[in-house]
Amino acid sequence: MEVVILPGTRQIGRLAADAIETLLRAKPDAVLGLATGSSPLPVYDELSRRHHEEGLDFSRAHAFALDEYVGLEPGHPESYREVIRREFTDRVNIDPANVHSPDGTAEDLPAACQAYEDAIRERGGVDLQLLGVGTDGHIGFNEPGSSLASRTRIKTLIEQTRKDNARFFRSIDDVPHHVVTQGLGTIMDARHVILIATGARKAQAVRDFVEGPVAAICAASVLQLHPHATVLIDEAAASSLRLADYYRHTFESKPGWQGL
Ligand code: F6R
Repeated sequence: MEVVILPGTRQIGRLAADAIETLLRAKPDAVLGLATGSSPLPVYDELSRRHHEEGLDFSRAHAFALDEYVGLEPGHPESYREVIRREFTDRVNIDPANVHSPDGTAEDLPAACQAYEDAIRERGGVDLQLLGVGTDGHIGFNEPGSSLASRTRIKTLIEQTRKDNARFFRSIDDVPHHVVTQGLGTIMDARHVILIATGARKAQAVRDFVEGPVAAICAASVLQLHPHATVLIDEAAASSLRLADYYRHTFESKPGWQGL
């Protein structure tokens, strides 16, 4: 796991966008894994800028979202399908037919989850997965206790996650209790994962998943087992890390050609 501590969100957005741009230039039909929430927004802003100002081309790319609420009506502005469209895919030239989200409205949710797994596999798997992390260490909506080998399935949100996400709704009562999320096993199949965390509220979760034990109580800790996991954090999110100076030194002395 590579931990990169950066001054702020703009630098984080640029570095993650560099990795995505390098991937797309080498593999124009790459499969991107998209997260919602606040953490990836600087990346989406930077990718949109590069598309408009520098011609970065998404026309052959594919994208799979991590998760979706269950029970929001189709087109609900806070459904993750809509958020991804608004925050990212409508701002670049990706073909909307190539953008996939788990179906939180399906009558047969287990069948829809299996279909989502199949669709990812048929596309050749995710090349680069963007992730945020919850204050409880969740990635996707794999709450504490999730099987480290889990696949796409329905999960129940922990109350803290509903509180954290209430800012996007009129009130906490409107935040669904259930979600469909890629599993930890699904996320681990991505060839490269980039997790972004910013702000002091994330410091404990970052400490737990980077330097704590690999354990289902902190879902993101499974990334310690990933062969190519990059963690991009600001100083506030890094403030509880024991080895922060070592991570800084490692990144400062990394040869430029290596990329992320
Ligand atoms: C969103 C997702 C979640 C968020 C996490 C952090 O698709 O999968 O795991 O990444 O809840 O959310 P923010 O970035 O809003 O702090």
